[in-house]
Amino acid sequence: MKVGVPTEIKTDEYRVALTQAGVRELVEHGHEVLVQAGAGLGSAITDDDYQEQGASILPDAPAVFAEADMVVKVKEPQASEVAMLEPRHTLFTYLHLAPDPELTRGLVESGATCVAYETVEDDRGRLPLLAPMSEVAGKIATQAGAFMLEKPLGGRGILLGGVPGVAAANVMVIGGGVVGMNAAFIALGMEATVYVYDRNIDRLRELDIAFGGRADTCYASTLDIEQRLPDVDLVIGAVLVHGAKAPYVIRREQLKLMKPGAVLVDVAIDQGGCFETSRPTTHTDPTYEVDGVIHYCVANMPGAVPVTSTRALTNATLPYILHVADEGVAGASRQNPGLAKGVNVVAGKVTYRPVADATGHPYQDLFDALGEAAAA
Ligand SMILES: NC(=O)c1ccc[n+]([C@@H]2O[C@H](COP(=O)([O-])OP(=O)(O)OC[C@H]3O[C@@H](n4cnc5c(N)ncnc54)[C@H](O)[C@@H]3O)[C@@H](O)[C@H]2O)c1
Repeated sequence: MKVGVPTEIKTDEYRVALTQAGVRELVEHGHEVLVQAGAGLGSAITDDDYQEQGASILPDAPAVFAEADMVVKVKEPQASEVAMLEPRHTLFTYLHLAPDPELTRGLVESGATCVAYETVEDDRGRLPLLAPMSEVAGKIATQAGAFMLEKPLGGRGILLGGVPGVAAANVMVIGGGVVGMNAAFIALGMEATVYVYDRNIDRLRELDIAFGGRADTCYASTLDIEQRLPDVDLVIGAVLVHGAKAPYVIRREQLKLMKPGAVLVDVAIDQGGCFETSRPTTHTDPTYEVDGVIHYCVANMPGAVPVTSTRALTNATLPYILHVADEGVAGASRQNPGLAKGVNVVAGKVTYRPVADATGHPYQDLFDALGEAAAA
Protein backbone atom coordinates (compact mmCIF):
# COMPACT_ATOMS: atom_id res chain seq x y z
CA MET A 1 0.00 0.00 0.00
CA LYS A 2 1.11 3.60 -0.57
CA VAL A 3 0.94 5.49 2.73
CA GLY A 4 0.93 9.30 2.49
CA VAL A 5 2.00 11.71 5.25
CA PRO A 6 1.00 15.34 4.55
CA THR A 7 2.15 18.35 6.58
CA GLU A 8 -0.40 19.31 9.26
CA ILE A 9 -2.02 22.65 8.40
CA LYS A 10 -4.23 23.39 11.42
CA THR A 11 -3.20 26.61 13.21
CA ASP A 12 -0.18 26.08 15.49
CA GLU A 13 0.00 22.37 14.73
CA TYR A 14 3.58 21.09 14.60
CA ARG A 15 3.01 17.35 15.00
CA VAL A 16 3.31 14.87 12.13
CA ALA A 17 1.55 11.51 11.78
CA LEU A 18 4.64 9.31 11.43
CA THR A 19 8.21 9.32 12.75
CA GLN A 20 11.17 7.92 10.83
CA ALA A 21 10.80 4.78 13.00
CA GLY A 22 7.28 4.37 11.61
CA VAL A 23 8.57 4.75 8.05
CA ARG A 24 11.13 2.02 8.68
CA GLU A 25 8.50 -0.48 9.88
CA LEU A 26 6.09 0.25 7.01
CA VAL A 27 8.88 -0.13 4.45
CA GLU A 28 9.95 -3.42 6.08
CA HIS A 29 6.34 -4.62 5.63
CA GLY A 30 6.67 -3.90 1.90
CA HIS A 31 4.75 -0.61 1.80
CA GLU A 32 5.71 2.68 0.15
CA VAL A 33 5.75 5.83 2.31
CA LEU A 34 5.27 9.25 0.73
CA VAL A 35 6.06 12.21 2.98
CA GLN A 36 5.35 15.85 2.11
CA ALA A 37 8.58 17.90 2.09
CA GLY A 38 9.11 19.49 5.49
CA ALA A 39 6.25 17.59 7.17
CA GLY A 40 8.42 16.54 10.11
CA LEU A 41 10.35 19.75 10.71
CA GLY A 42 8.05 20.98 13.49
CA SER A 43 8.79 17.74 15.33
CA ALA A 44 12.54 17.93 14.67
CA ILE A 45 12.44 15.25 11.92
CA THR A 46 14.10 16.20 8.63
CA ASP A 47 13.33 14.97 5.11
CA ASP A 48 16.72 13.23 5.20
CA ASP A 49 15.69 11.36 8.39
CA TYR A 50 12.64 10.03 6.53
CA GLN A 51 14.55 9.24 3.32
CA GLU A 52 17.23 7.32 5.22
CA GLN A 53 14.48 4.93 6.37
CA GLY A 54 13.09 4.50 2.85
CA ALA A 55 10.43 7.22 2.43
CA SER A 56 10.00 9.26 -0.76
CA ILE A 57 9.63 13.02 -0.35
CA LEU A 58 6.89 14.72 -2.42
CA PRO A 59 6.70 18.49 -2.90
CA ASP A 60 3.21 19.31 -1.61
CA ALA A 61 -0.06 17.97 -0.19
CA PRO A 62 -1.82 17.51 -3.60
CA ALA A 63 1.07 15.26 -4.69
CA VAL A 64 0.77 13.18 -1.50
CA PHE A 65 -3.03 12.81 -1.78
CA ALA A 66 -2.79 12.01 -5.50
CA GLU A 67 -0.28 9.17 -4.95
CA ALA A 68 -1.38 7.70 -1.62
CA ASP A 69 -3.93 4.95 -0.96
CA MET A 70 -3.98 5.65 2.77
CA VAL A 71 -3.43 9.15 4.18
CA VAL A 72 -2.29 9.28 7.81
CA LYS A 73 -2.61 12.56 9.67
CA VAL A 74 -2.81 14.00 13.16
CA LYS A 75 -5.66 16.53 13.23
CA GLU A 76 -9.04 16.35 11.55
CA PRO A 77 -8.80 17.25 7.83
CA GLN A 78 -9.16 20.92 7.04
CA ALA A 79 -11.41 22.04 4.14
CA SER A 80 -8.60 21.99 1.55
CA GLU A 81 -7.73 18.41 2.59
CA VAL A 82 -11.35 17.18 2.49
CA ALA A 83 -11.48 18.52 -1.07
CA MET A 84 -8.58 16.20 -2.03
CA LEU A 85 -10.18 13.01 -0.64
CA GLU A 86 -11.54 10.46 -3.09
CA PRO A 87 -13.49 7.20 -2.70
CA ARG A 88 -10.26 5.17 -3.16
CA HIS A 89 -8.65 6.81 -0.08
CA THR A 90 -8.46 5.56 3.47
CA LEU A 91 -7.99 8.44 5.92
CA PHE A 92 -6.59 7.56 9.36
CA THR A 93 -6.43 10.46 11.85
CA TYR A 94 -8.22 12.17 14.75
CA LEU A 95 -11.68 13.15 13.44
CA HIS A 96 -13.89 14.18 16.43
CA LEU A 97 -16.97 14.10 14.18
CA ALA A 98 -19.77 14.12 16.78
CA PRO A 99 -19.60 17.89 17.40
CA ASP A 100 -18.81 18.68 13.74
CA PRO A 101 -21.71 18.02 11.31
CA GLU A 102 -20.01 20.04 8.55
CA LEU A 103 -16.86 17.90 8.55
CA THR A 104 -18.99 14.76 8.78
CA ARG A 105 -20.92 15.86 5.69
CA GLY A 106 -17.65 16.62 3.86
CA LEU A 107 -16.25 13.16 4.61
CA VAL A 108 -19.53 11.45 3.68
CA GLU A 109 -19.58 13.32 0.36
CA SER A 110 -15.92 12.46 -0.35
CA GLY A 111 -16.75 8.74 -0.50
CA ALA A 112 -13.51 7.96 1.38
CA THR A 113 -13.13 5.46 4.22
CA CYS A 114 -12.38 7.45 7.36
CA VAL A 115 -10.96 5.88 10.51
CA ALA A 116 -10.86 7.95 13.72
CA TYR A 117 -7.99 7.41 16.14
CA GLU A 118 -10.16 8.52 19.05
CA THR A 119 -12.84 5.81 18.69
CA VAL A 120 -10.50 2.81 18.22
CA GLU A 121 -10.81 0.61 21.33
CA ASP A 122 -8.57 -2.01 22.90
CA ASP A 123 -9.85 -5.31 24.27
CA ARG A 124 -10.73 -3.64 27.59
CA GLY A 125 -12.80 -0.89 25.94
CA ARG A 126 -10.10 1.77 26.48
CA LEU A 127 -8.98 4.25 23.80
CA PRO A 128 -5.37 3.34 22.94
CA LEU A 129 -4.92 5.99 20.23
CA LEU A 130 -6.40 8.82 22.30
CA ALA A 131 -4.47 7.89 25.45
CA PRO A 132 -1.00 9.20 24.53
CA MET A 133 -2.34 12.61 23.52
CA SER A 134 -4.56 12.64 26.61
CA GLU A 135 -1.49 12.04 28.75
CA VAL A 136 0.19 15.03 27.09
CA ALA A 137 -2.92 17.26 27.21
CA GLY A 138 -3.54 16.44 30.87
CA LYS A 139 -0.03 17.50 31.81
CA ILE A 140 -0.26 20.69 29.70
CA ALA A 141 -3.69 21.52 31.19
CA THR A 142 -2.23 22.08 34.65
CA GLN A 143 0.86 23.90 33.33
CA ALA A 144 -1.34 26.19 31.21
CA GLY A 145 -3.84 26.70 34.03
CA ALA A 146 -1.07 27.64 36.47
CA PHE A 147 0.31 30.14 33.94
CA MET A 148 -3.10 31.69 33.16
CA LEU A 149 -3.73 32.19 36.90
CA GLU A 150 -0.90 34.76 36.86
CA LYS A 151 -2.24 38.30 37.15
CA PRO A 152 -0.65 39.74 33.95
CA LEU A 153 -2.38 36.95 31.98
CA GLY A 154 -5.80 37.80 33.39
CA GLY A 155 -5.87 35.28 36.24
CA ARG A 156 -6.54 36.01 39.89
CA GLY A 157 -2.85 36.02 40.74
CA ILE A 158 -2.46 32.94 42.89
CA LEU A 159 0.53 30.59 42.88
CA LEU A 160 -0.66 27.01 42.42
CA GLY A 161 1.51 25.52 45.15
CA GLY A 162 1.37 28.40 47.64
CA VAL A 163 4.36 29.07 49.93
CA PRO A 164 4.97 28.34 53.62
CA GLY A 165 2.37 30.36 55.49
CA VAL A 166 0.12 30.97 52.45
CA ALA A 167 -2.36 28.33 51.26
CA ALA A 168 -2.01 26.58 47.91
CA ALA A 169 -4.58 27.03 45.12
CA ASN A 170 -7.56 24.68 44.85
CA VAL A 171 -7.66 22.66 41.64
CA MET A 172 -10.83 20.85 40.56
CA VAL A 173 -10.48 18.20 37.84
CA ILE A 174 -13.80 17.04 36.34
CA GLY A 175 -13.41 13.69 34.55
CA GLY A 176 -10.79 11.40 36.08
CA GLY A 177 -9.77 9.46 32.97
CA VAL A 178 -6.39 9.69 31.26
CA VAL A 179 -6.43 13.50 30.92
CA GLY A 180 -7.80 14.02 34.41
CA MET A 181 -5.35 11.71 36.14
CA ASN A 182 -2.35 13.28 34.41
CA ALA A 183 -3.61 16.80 35.16
CA ALA A 184 -4.09 15.86 38.80
CA PHE A 185 -0.61 14.35 39.11
CA ILE A 186 1.01 17.54 37.79
CA ALA A 187 -1.15 19.65 40.11
CA LEU A 188 -0.08 17.46 43.05
CA GLY A 189 3.54 17.78 41.91
CA MET A 190 3.11 21.57 42.02
CA GLU A 191 1.75 21.17 45.57
CA ALA A 192 -1.80 22.40 44.85
CA THR A 193 -4.86 21.12 46.73
CA VAL A 194 -6.57 18.76 44.29
CA TYR A 195 -10.13 17.39 43.95
CA VAL A 196 -10.94 14.92 41.16
CA TYR A 197 -14.59 14.40 40.13
CA ASP A 198 -15.96 11.50 38.09
CA ARG A 199 -19.26 9.65 37.73
CA ASN A 200 -17.65 6.22 37.47
CA ILE A 201 -17.22 4.87 41.01
CA ASP A 202 -14.79 2.15 39.92
CA ARG A 203 -12.63 4.81 38.31
CA LEU A 204 -12.73 6.85 41.53
CA ARG A 205 -11.59 3.73 43.41
CA GLU A 206 -8.62 3.32 41.04
CA LEU A 207 -7.72 7.00 41.40
CA ASP A 208 -7.96 6.85 45.16
CA ILE A 209 -5.30 4.12 45.14
CA ALA A 210 -3.16 5.93 42.54
CA PHE A 211 -3.17 9.20 44.53
CA GLY A 212 -2.40 7.46 47.82
CA GLY A 213 -4.55 9.95 49.71
CA ARG A 214 -2.84 13.06 48.27
CA ALA A 215 -5.94 14.15 46.27
CA ASP A 216 -9.64 13.89 47.14
CA THR A 217 -11.88 11.89 44.81
CA CYS A 218 -15.49 13.10 44.56
CA TYR A 219 -18.67 11.93 42.82
CA ALA A 220 -19.46 14.39 40.00
CA SER A 221 -23.08 15.24 40.83
CA THR A 222 -24.28 18.68 39.71
CA LEU A 223 -24.80 19.72 43.32
CA ASP A 224 -21.36 18.58 44.53
CA ILE A 225 -19.63 20.40 41.65
CA GLU A 226 -21.69 23.53 42.30
CA GLN A 227 -20.88 23.54 46.02
CA ARG A 228 -17.13 23.37 45.32
CA LEU A 229 -17.08 26.12 42.65
CA PRO A 230 -16.84 29.13 45.03
CA ASP A 231 -13.58 27.73 46.47
CA VAL A 232 -11.72 26.73 43.33
CA ASP A 233 -9.02 28.67 41.49
CA LEU A 234 -8.52 26.31 38.55
CA VAL A 235 -11.02 23.89 36.97
CA ILE A 236 -9.84 21.34 34.39
CA GLY A 237 -12.64 19.84 32.29
CA ALA A 238 -11.68 16.35 31.08
CA VAL A 239 -14.90 14.36 30.67
CA LEU A 240 -15.54 12.01 27.76
CA VAL A 241 -18.49 9.88 26.72
CA HIS A 242 -16.91 7.72 24.00
CA GLY A 243 -17.48 9.16 20.54
CA ALA A 244 -20.24 11.53 21.69
CA LYS A 245 -20.42 15.28 22.17
CA ALA A 246 -19.13 16.23 25.64
CA PRO A 247 -21.81 16.76 28.33
CA TYR A 248 -21.85 20.17 30.06
CA VAL A 249 -20.51 19.93 33.61
CA ILE A 250 -20.52 23.70 34.26
CA ARG A 251 -23.32 25.95 32.97
CA ARG A 252 -23.10 29.67 32.28
CA GLU A 253 -25.22 30.61 35.31
CA GLN A 254 -22.77 28.74 37.57
CA LEU A 255 -19.83 30.99 36.56
CA LYS A 256 -21.11 33.68 38.93
CA LEU A 257 -20.41 31.27 41.81
CA MET A 258 -16.69 31.38 40.97
CA LYS A 259 -13.98 33.83 42.09
CA PRO A 260 -13.16 36.60 39.58
CA GLY A 261 -9.99 35.60 37.72
CA ALA A 262 -10.46 31.88 38.31
CA VAL A 263 -9.42 29.78 35.30
CA LEU A 264 -11.32 27.09 33.36
CA VAL A 265 -9.27 24.78 31.11
CA ASP A 266 -11.60 22.82 28.80
CA VAL A 267 -9.57 19.89 27.48
CA ALA A 268 -12.78 18.27 26.17
CA ILE A 269 -13.16 21.14 23.69
CA ASP A 270 -12.30 18.76 20.83
CA GLN A 271 -15.55 16.91 21.62
CA GLY A 272 -17.51 20.16 21.71
CA GLY A 273 -16.45 21.34 25.19
CA CYS A 274 -17.75 20.45 28.68
CA PHE A 275 -18.41 24.01 29.89
CA GLU A 276 -21.41 25.77 28.34
CA THR A 277 -19.34 28.90 27.71
CA SER A 278 -16.44 27.13 25.94
CA ARG A 279 -15.46 27.80 22.34
CA PRO A 280 -12.30 26.56 20.60
CA THR A 281 -9.16 28.72 20.86
CA THR A 282 -5.61 28.41 19.51
CA HIS A 283 -2.14 28.39 21.07
CA THR A 284 -1.61 31.85 19.55
CA ASP A 285 -4.69 33.29 21.27
CA PRO A 286 -5.56 30.69 23.92
CA THR A 287 -7.90 32.49 26.35
CA TYR A 288 -10.97 34.70 26.62
CA GLU A 289 -13.09 35.85 29.53
CA VAL A 290 -16.74 35.23 30.34
CA ASP A 291 -18.32 36.72 33.50
CA GLY A 292 -14.86 37.34 34.99
CA VAL A 293 -13.70 33.73 34.51
CA ILE A 294 -10.75 33.03 32.19
CA HIS A 295 -11.41 30.26 29.64
CA TYR A 296 -8.54 28.28 28.03
CA CYS A 297 -9.97 26.01 25.29
CA VAL A 298 -7.14 25.03 22.92
CA ALA A 299 -8.35 22.16 20.75
CA ASN A 300 -4.87 20.80 19.91
CA MET A 301 -2.99 21.16 23.17
CA PRO A 302 -0.40 18.42 22.40
CA GLY A 303 0.53 20.36 19.24
CA ALA A 304 2.50 22.71 21.51
CA VAL A 305 5.02 20.00 22.41
CA PRO A 306 5.47 18.19 19.07
CA VAL A 307 8.84 16.64 19.89
CA THR A 308 7.15 14.65 22.65
CA SER A 309 3.70 14.26 21.10
CA THR A 310 4.72 13.03 17.64
CA ARG A 311 6.80 10.22 19.11
CA ALA A 312 4.10 9.25 21.63
CA LEU A 313 1.48 9.25 18.87
CA THR A 314 3.45 7.07 16.45
CA ASN A 315 4.27 4.60 19.25
CA ALA A 316 0.52 4.08 19.69
CA THR A 317 -0.75 4.34 16.10
CA LEU A 318 1.92 2.35 14.29
CA PRO A 319 0.60 -1.17 15.02
CA TYR A 320 -2.83 -0.10 13.73
CA ILE A 321 -1.42 1.71 10.67
CA LEU A 322 0.63 -1.40 9.84
CA HIS A 323 -2.42 -3.64 10.26
CA VAL A 324 -4.57 -1.49 7.95
CA ALA A 325 -1.72 -1.21 5.42
CA ASP A 326 -1.23 -5.00 5.46
CA GLU A 327 -4.87 -6.10 5.42
CA GLY A 328 -6.94 -3.11 4.23
CA VAL A 329 -9.69 -1.61 6.40
CA ALA A 330 -12.11 -4.50 5.83
CA GLY A 331 -9.60 -7.26 6.63
CA ALA A 332 -8.11 -5.46 9.64
CA SER A 333 -11.59 -4.62 11.00
CA ARG A 334 -12.68 -8.26 10.77
CA GLN A 335 -9.56 -9.38 12.64
CA ASN A 336 -9.67 -6.63 15.27
CA PRO A 337 -13.13 -5.54 16.52
CA GLY A 338 -11.51 -2.67 18.44
CA LEU A 339 -10.11 -1.25 15.23
CA ALA A 340 -13.54 -1.70 13.58
CA LYS A 341 -14.91 0.74 16.18
CA GLY A 342 -12.59 3.37 14.72
CA VAL A 343 -14.20 3.25 11.27
CA ASN A 344 -16.59 6.23 11.28
CA VAL A 345 -17.37 6.72 7.58
CA VAL A 346 -17.34 4.30 4.62
CA ALA A 347 -18.27 5.16 1.02
CA GLY A 348 -20.75 7.87 1.96
CA LYS A 349 -22.22 6.08 5.02
CA VAL A 350 -21.71 6.85 8.73
CA THR A 351 -20.76 3.55 10.37
CA TYR A 352 -20.20 4.71 13.98
CA ARG A 353 -23.50 5.12 15.83
CA PRO A 354 -22.68 8.01 18.23
CA VAL A 355 -21.54 10.11 15.25
CA ALA A 356 -24.65 9.22 13.24
CA ASP A 357 -26.87 10.12 16.22
CA ALA A 358 -25.04 13.40 16.91
CA THR A 359 -24.91 14.61 13.30
CA GLY A 360 -28.28 13.41 12.02
CA HIS A 361 -26.86 11.03 9.40
CA PRO A 362 -28.42 7.58 9.00
CA TYR A 363 -26.32 4.84 10.63
CA GLN A 364 -25.20 1.86 8.58
CA ASP A 365 -23.57 -1.31 9.90
CA LEU A 366 -19.83 -1.21 9.14
CA PHE A 367 -19.57 -4.59 7.43
CA ASP A 368 -22.68 -3.95 5.30
CA ALA A 369 -21.13 -0.64 4.17
CA LEU A 370 -17.76 -2.26 3.47
CA GLY A 371 -19.52 -5.04 1.51
CA GLU A 372 -21.46 -2.53 -0.59
CA ALA A 373 -18.29 -0.48 -1.20
CA ALA A 374 -16.40 -3.59 -2.35
CA ALA A 375 -19.26 -4.60 -4.69
CA ALA A 376 -19.54 -1.10 -6.23
N1 LIG B 1 -7.81 19.59 23.73
C1 LIG B 1 -6.91 18.67 23.41
O1 LIG B 1 -5.87 18.98 22.83
C2 LIG B 1 -7.12 17.24 23.80
C3 LIG B 1 -6.07 16.31 23.75
C4 LIG B 1 -6.31 14.99 24.19
C5 LIG B 1 -7.58 14.64 24.63
N2 LIG B 1 -8.59 15.57 24.62
C6 LIG B 1 -9.95 15.27 25.08
O2 LIG B 1 -9.99 15.15 26.49
C7 LIG B 1 -11.19 14.45 26.83
C8 LIG B 1 -10.87 13.39 27.88
O3 LIG B 1 -10.09 12.37 27.30
P1 LIG B 1 -9.58 11.10 28.14
O4 LIG B 1 -8.64 10.36 27.28
O5 LIG B 1 -9.16 11.51 29.49
O6 LIG B 1 -10.93 10.25 28.26
P2 LIG B 1 -11.21 9.06 29.27
O7 LIG B 1 -12.27 8.22 28.65
O8 LIG B 1 -9.92 8.40 29.71
O9 LIG B 1 -11.78 9.80 30.57
C9 LIG B 1 -13.00 10.48 30.58
C10 LIG B 1 -13.57 10.41 31.98
O10 LIG B 1 -14.74 11.26 32.03
C11 LIG B 1 -15.65 10.64 32.91
N3 LIG B 1 -16.97 11.23 32.71
C12 LIG B 1 -17.84 11.05 31.68
N4 LIG B 1 -18.93 11.81 31.87
C13 LIG B 1 -18.73 12.49 33.03
C14 LIG B 1 -19.49 13.44 33.75
N5 LIG B 1 -20.70 13.87 33.32
N6 LIG B 1 -18.98 13.94 34.91
C15 LIG B 1 -17.77 13.53 35.35
N7 LIG B 1 -17.00 12.63 34.72
C16 LIG B 1 -17.48 12.12 33.57
C17 LIG B 1 -15.54 9.15 32.56
O11 LIG B 1 -16.07 8.34 33.61
C18 LIG B 1 -14.03 9.00 32.39
O12 LIG B 1 -13.38 8.60 33.58
C19 LIG B 1 -11.71 13.89 25.49
O13 LIG B 1 -12.75 14.72 25.01
C20 LIG B 1 -10.53 13.97 24.58
O14 LIG B 1 -10.90 14.04 23.20
C21 LIG B 1 -8.37 16.85 24.21
